[in-house]
Amino acid sequence: MPFAIAIDGPSGAGKSTLARIIAKNLQFVYVDTGALYRAIGHSMLSRHIDIEDDAKVAAGLDGLTVSIAYVDDEQRVIVNGVDVSDNIRTPQVSMAASRVSAVPEVRRFLMNTQRDIAKSQSVVMDGRDIGTTILPDADLKIYLTATPEARAQRRLLDLQAKGIASTFEAVLEDMRQRDYNDSHRAAAPLKQAEDAIFIDNS
Ligand code: DC
Repeated sequence: MPFAIAIDGPSGAGKSTLARIIAKNLQFVYVDTGALYRAIGHSMLSRHIDIEDDAKVAAGLDGLTVSIAYVDDEQRVIVNGVDVSDNIRTPQVSMAASRVSAVPEVRRFLMNTQRDIAKSQSVVMDGRDIGTTILPDADLKIYLTATPEARAQRRLLDLQAKGIASTFEAVLEDMRQRDYNDSHRAAAPLKQAEDAIFIDNS
């Protein structure tokens, strides 16, 4: 039977760093589900679809295929046959991902992609609703968080390492906005599963 570890929490809490280390040590597959929402946000932006309009976002899913592939053990996201992984880490795409992820059709669209991966292999999956919605029977659930300031500082260093210019204030503001969106949406909002272990990673 495959084993599933769910790691949820807000952006910049260190989920992917933790998940990668666990996956490497246990030889599980690491699944970054945020990349799927980013891929959809990116696709909507590049087609100039109004992401503030839920009906247009839902209609924009027509004919879209989003899947995950692994190249040299690194997760790649493929949209209609094109690997978009290198284009989904900008602040614009972060905000678009947060926005489109509130649309119930988008969440439904990605649900089976996420569940199917965990059916056939042991996974460490990170996101916002893995322990509550995608894998409610996960063997181990972790809710990883940190103060907004600690998370913004980390995200700023990530962006700088990628050569994307920003400031602490701008990143903190983006983070607060995304925290609000992600935890106040009606569809599968960010929240700690009752049986998750809480870790403050500040
Ligand atoms: O983890 P991340 O920052 O790459 O995620 C980008 C956005 O996608 C995030 O602001 C909210 C959304 N998301 C989600 O709604 N559910 C998930 N399981 C993962 C991400």
